[in-house]
Amino acid sequence: MDSIVELDHVHVARGERLVLHDLSLQIARGEHLAILGPNGCGKSTLLKAITCELYPLVRPETKVRIMGRERWDLTQLKRRMGVVSAELPGKQTLSITGFDAILTGFFSSSILWPNLTVTHPMRERKRFWSRLMDKV
Ligand SMILES: Nc1ncnc2c1ncn2[C@@H]1O[C@H](COP(=O)(O)OP(=O)(O)OP(=O)(O)O)[C@@H](O)[C@H]1O
Ligand SMILES: [Mg+2]
Repeated sequence: MDSIVELDHVHVARGERLVLHDLSLQIARGEHLAILGPNGCGKSTLLKAITCELYPLVRPETKVRIMGRERWDLTQLKRRMGVVSAELPGKQTLSITGFDAILTGFFSSSILWPNLTVTHPMRERKRFWSRLMDKV
């Protein structure tokens, strides 16, 4: 498995509008890639297709394979991806408590979704970081 990203004939819509049209892309392990284009051309949409935040339209010719797999538990996939973005991950983030926001770092999630299990060691590490930040 040498490709970490394999997109074949991907079509992605945002609202009513088709933004990615029949896009095919392979990114090999260790390869560096810059995605350039004018505002609104679909760069963020492409990234969201790779991180499985957005799914392509269902077409027989379409394939999305990330790190060798077509299906992922998103909590597992997020642990293997580093995404830095100016976008807020979701409206829910605005109403989260500071303590819970720190805990979401263990899951790369926007809030503590009900399927996420916070363990005792996680709470201990959270206390450590909260105390440290309190001193800053
Ligand atoms: N949540 C949304 N709902 C509907 N349309 C959207 C949504 N987000 C983006 N779009 C539209 O999809 C198209 C592609 O947007 P996208 O954010 O992927 O572009 P971009 O290349 O990342 O732009 P920028 O350079 O401004 O970051 C644009 O026409 C945009 O208006
Ligand atoms: Mg963008």
